[in-house]
Amino acid sequence: MTDRRDLIVGNWKMNATHLDAIQMIQKLHYRLELDDYDRVDVVVAPPFTALRSAQTVIEADRMLIQLGAQNAHWEENGAFTGEVSAPMLERLAVSYVILGHSERRQYFGETDELVNKRTRAVLGAGMTPIVCVGETLSQREDGEAQSVVGSQLRGAFARLGPDLVGACSIAYEPVWAIGTGRTASPEDAGDMAAFIRETLIEIANSDTAEQVRVLYGGSVNAGNVKDLMAKRHVDGALVGGASLDPDKFAAIVRYRL
Ligand code: 13P
Repeated sequence: MTDRRDLIVGNWKMNATHLDAIQMIQKLHYRLELDDYDRVDVVVAPPFTALRSAQTVIEADRMLIQLGAQNAHWEENGAFTGEVSAPMLERLAVSYVILGHSERRQYFGETDELVNKRTRAVLGAGMTPIVCVGETLSQREDGEAQSVVGSQLRGAFARLGPDLVGACSIAYEPVWAIGTGRTASPEDAGDMAAFIRETLIEIANSDTAEQVRVLYGGSVNAGNVKDLMAKRHVDGALVGGASLDPDKFAAIVRYRL
């Protein structure tokens, strides 16, 4: 065991209006006990349009649920129609920003270089980037999983000093496990999390590598979370589908080893 605190994040993706979000957050709040938050940082990442309502309900009821966003532009402001900047998110009490999700890489042309720029901007605004990495099925079958993840990490953290790398979290999400019901085995997840930590030693140093939280994502549910979290290098979960149901997400947060 290490002293890294668990981090469990619900990535709502493009789901939930601001009204849905208020209800979902209230339900989640009622299903969690105060001591759950002693063990785990509990984060929900709704779409941008729900962040203001989410912030309002969280602050009004003094909830301990924290807020995440699903992306951020690298500039603070300017002529970038349709984009949202890191300082805008920070002003909405957002603490975490998911970056480089495989869906963004696949559908929106996200590159390691852009992830690097976004990571700098999110850090600059005082929030925690959750940098997503992960291989496709064919890359895994070709034995390239580690080299793909290694190069995504080197790209995302290029020219960042150890202090900045240490202020990030990482989510290992094998693309073939996302939304498929096909979870990586705890061994595969644990092995890749260990590889990620070794890579962080090379990119930064061993203190930084020990400090960074490495999450697993891909079909996490209340039934498999415990075995995944039992792995020494897995410090949390990035949950998609199951995070949309407050009962299911609360059960994931409340897992016990
Ligand atoms: P699922 O939990 O729906 O597989 O999604 C995982 C994910 O992409 C979280 O970011």
